Amino acid sequence: MLPITYPIGQAKNGAGRGPLVFASLKASENSKVPVKLYAVEKNENALHVLNYNNDNYWHNLVTIIGADMRTWKFDRKCDILVSELLGSFGDNELSPECLDGAQHILKEDGICIPSSYTSYISPLQSQTLFSNMKMFKNAGPLDNRHNNTEQLYVVNMRNMYIIAPAKPVFTFKHPRNDLETNNDRYASLTFDIPQDCVLHGFAGYFEAILYKNINISIEPTTFSKGMFSWYPAYIPIKNSVTLKKGERLRAHFWRLSDVSKVWYEWSVSEPYAVPVHNPNARSYSMHLH
Ligand SMILES: C[S@@+](CC[C@H](N)C(=O)[O-])C[C@H]1O[C@@H](n2cnc3c(N)ncnc32)[C@H](O)[C@@H]1O
Repeated sequence: MLPITYPIGQAKNGAGRGPLVFASLKASENSKVPVKLYAVEKNENALHVLNYNNDNYWHNLVTIIGADMRTWKFDRKCDILVSELLGSFGDNELSPECLDGAQHILKEDGICIPSSYTSYISPLQSQTLFSNMKMFKNAGPLDNRHNNTEQLYVVNMRNMYIIAPAKPVFTFKHPRNDLETNNDRYASLTFDIPQDCVLHGFAGYFEAILYKNINISIEPTTFSKGMFSWYPAYIPIKNSVTLKKGERLRAHFWRLSDVSKVWYEWSVSEPYAVPVHNPNARSYSMHLH
C-alpha cells in the first residue's frame, strides 16, 4: 500500500473534510490490515473536500458517497462504522438518530466507533455568560420572547464558577438491539450547594467511549488533554436563582422528539421551581431532515 500523507492541519481540522478517513487509512497502514473504505457525507461542500483529498492524498482508495447515512442503500454490510457526529452536549447533533438510521449497513457483529457517549451537566454561576446571553436578540416570532434563554450556546468558558461537579445526564450506545424505541430521555439530577451563590444555568459536556477503554472527554475531571475540538455548552436559565450553602439543587432535563425534530427541555424544582424552558421546542430544536 502507498503511504498516506497528511496535509498539514487537515488531519485534525474542520467538519466533513475527512480527518477520520485519514485516521482510518493510517490505522490500516500501521496495522497492515487492508480496508475497503466508504466515506458517507450528505453535505455537498464537504464532498468537494473529500473528493479533493481522495485525488491528492488518499490515492483514490476511498469510495466517496454523497448520501444521508440513514437512507443510503448499500449492497454490503460493513465491519466498522466510524463517525463523529457529536456536539458539546454529546447527542445534540443527532448522533443517536443518525447512527440508529445507519445501523442497517453494519454487520450483526460489527462495531461502532464511538460505541457510546454520555452528556454531563454542572450548575454554574457566571454573570458574564448570563448577561451576554440576555443581550442576544430574540430571533423567534413576536409571541415568543424566550428565544435567547431557551437554547444551547457553545462557549469557551472562562469567567464562571462551577457550583458543583458534573453529573451524567443521557447515555447512548451503538449498535443497539432495540431500534424500535426512540431516543427520548428524562433525567433528574441533584447537586449539593457548597456555598452561597447564584445559579445562572448549566455547563454541558460529554464523554465518549470510542472503543473498549479508549475515550475522549470534555468533562473537566476526565478531560482529554490537548483536545480543543469542542468547547462546553452553556445551557441558560431565564431568571437567575439564589442558592444558599447546604441547599440542594434539583434539575430536570428532557430529550424529546417528534417526526421532524429533536429538542431539550429543562427546569429546576429545588430549592425553588422555575418554569420549564423550551416547552414543545418553542425556541430551539434540531431538525431530523
Ligand atoms: C461534526 S461533523 C464531523 C465530520 C468529520 N468527522 C470532521 O471532523 O471533519 C459531522 C459531519 O457529518 C455530516 N452528517 C451529519 N449527519 C449526516 C447524515 N445523516 N448522513 C451523512 N452525513 C451526515 C455533516 O454534514 C458533517 O459534515
